[in-house]
Amino acid sequence: MNVSSSVLKMSFINLTKSCTRGLATSVARMATIKNVTIIGGGQMGAGIAQVAAQTGHRVVVVDQSDEILLKSVAGIQKSLARVVKKKFADDPSGGESFLKTTMAQISTATDAESAVKEADLVVEAIVENIKIKQNLFEKLDKAAPQNTIFASNTSSLAISEIAQTSQRKDRFGGLHFFNPVPVMKLVEVVRIDETSDDTFNSLVAFGQAVGKTTVSCKDTPGFIVNRLLVPYLMEAVRLMDRGDASARDIDVGMKLGAGHPMGPFELLDYVGLDVTKFIMDGWHKDFPDNPLFNPSPSIDKLVAEGKLGVKTGEGFYNYKK
Ligand code: 3HC
Repeated sequence: MNVSSSVLKMSFINLTKSCTRGLATSVARMATIKNVTIIGGGQMGAGIAQVAAQTGHRVVVVDQSDEILLKSVAGIQKSLARVVKKKFADDPSGGESFLKTTMAQISTATDAESAVKEADLVVEAIVENIKIKQNLFEKLDKAAPQNTIFASNTSSLAISEIAQTSQRKDRFGGLHFFNPVPVMKLVEVVRIDETSDDTFNSLVAFGQAVGKTTVSCKDTPGFIVNRLLVPYLMEAVRLMDRGDASARDIDVGMKLGAGHPMGPFELLDYVGLDVTKFIMDGWHKDFPDNPLFNPSPSIDKLVAEGKLGVKTGEGFYNYKK
């Protein structure tokens, strides 16, 4: 071996050692998120709780009443049964034990402040109301240990605004999951200016630890997916409103012509028309000159009539029959 190749070899060994050290550090950081408290036991919160419990995290789900929490846990159990059916098709006893082990990882609470006492990570998935979110984090900031990371699963609000009442902005970020959480493979990890590298890396590691692919995005309206998806959904409604095509034909068009799993009207009903209306109204207020964010009279009308989509039995389609 000549001098230059031995120097190269030494550099390689040093590089390998430093990479291994780097890996050990990031593994150590990943290992720190074991206890996760999810605030909000709705569809998104329950889904996040499920995937976290499935991957060995200890999970506390917090909501306002035991009644809501019972519904939430029943939903997790039902969704887990679908996972078991698929993953343990030839191994019923393995499936039974997976179900039991996963459910044993989940507990519930109605008092958010005591539920964060041992949390490494708090994920908020409550109503999209900035004041309510800010009040929540102000309270949790005082109750949670110093090292606890806070994250919001908001669809469209600014993470920096949600974090405003917290004194731990360096340990704050966005973790945006997609519905249905057990099936959708993506998590958007959002950092604000103050988010530390350690916090960002821990959030990415958590997203990966629950089996998702992570992408990162600045704290910009709609992050990546909703910023593109929501204007597309609204354009579909405008196309129908102009009488150019029916909802059914637009849905079939996008499923068969673009390979989407659901057409835009099916997806609007699935996500909830109230959710989409909330996103559009907020963006329209912030960016009144952007026609992409114009509200939709059709959606406004359905929401006013209480027709919110699948969850109420009717939206653009009727699910009661
Ligand atoms: N839990 C566990 N498993 C579930 C599930 C759930 N809640 N929902 C569906 N599945 C599983 C089923 O068991 C089934 O498994 P299999 O393939 O082994 O049989 C598989 O997913 C497919 O489900 P179905 O057969 O019931 O129905 P579909 O094939 O029509 O799939 C769907 C349903 C996965 C919802 C699919 O239509 C889809 O991907 N739709 C698009 C969803 C989407 O775009 N989500 C993003 C919305 S935007 C968002 O969430 C952002 C927010 O901020 C607004």
